[in-house]
Amino acid sequence: MTLKAPVAPSSTVPQHIAIIMDGNGRWARKRGLPRLAGHKAGTENLRRIIKACVEFGIKYLTIYAFSTENWGRPPEEVDGLMRILEDVIEHELKELDRQGVQIHHLGQLDRLSPKLQKGVLEAVEQTRNNDRLVLNVALNYGGRDEIIHAFRQMLADGVKPEEVTVELVGKYLYTVGIPDPDLIIRTSGELRISNFMIWQAAYAEWYVTPTYWPDFGREELRKALDEYASRDRRFGKVDSSEYGEING
Ligand code: FPP
Repeated sequence: MTLKAPVAPSSTVPQHIAIIMDGNGRWARKRGLPRLAGHKAGTENLRRIIKACVEFGIKYLTIYAFSTENWGRPPEEVDGLMRILEDVIEHELKELDRQGVQIHHLGQLDRLSPKLQKGVLEAVEQTRNNDRLVLNVALNYGGRDEIIHAFRQMLADGVKPEEVTVELVGKYLYTVGIPDPDLIIRTSGELRISNFMIWQAAYAEWYVTPTYWPDFGREELRKALDEYASRDRRFGKVDSSEYGEING
């Protein structure tokens, strides 16, 4: 099945897409540019993909902007990425707000610069009533860190062992109130989960493309949506008609 633009909301359109935006560094190296030029090109592309998600009727988009492990990169790259994030909040917030994007933060704010912390909190506050697209920015985020944070909160709240269920754990994650991702996209061809949404990804469909993130534009997203529409999601179950074929 091929999706035509604009894509009408239906069960074949994922409600929630999560993206591991990988390959910025290799995109830059291929062009003889510094790695930060790749991150800047990746940021440009993010603008295109947010627009396309609004157009295609996607309700939730989660992006992996900076992981708890990314602090281990050389200081100039970490500083550069932080500056890009500060600039994006300063210069793009108005336009995102105009497009009806509601911004959420996934992760811990504490290690970020005071300027970035303030920017993130303001972005969340300013866009809280928007409802066209929820944009979850995973920033200083790690799936294991998220689960440890949830355990600690549950223990602090005196939750009893028999009260721990999938639903309850979900209420303690950074993604509380947000449905699990239907589709996770990873660019640049790596076949790894990289500590991204490890709880929420339990039944997500994966789409991995060799395309580097800065080149993963609207048409590439459409291809991923086409592929998703052709998948048979069974959530570990078996279609009852299959039993009919064997037994009937
Ligand atoms: C992975 O590519 C990308 C990142 C670690 C950062 C992603 C950040 C952006 C796209 C820009 C800023 C984000 C926002 C929300 C404005 P890589 O550096 O690991 O690439 P490589 O594997 O080719 O080296």
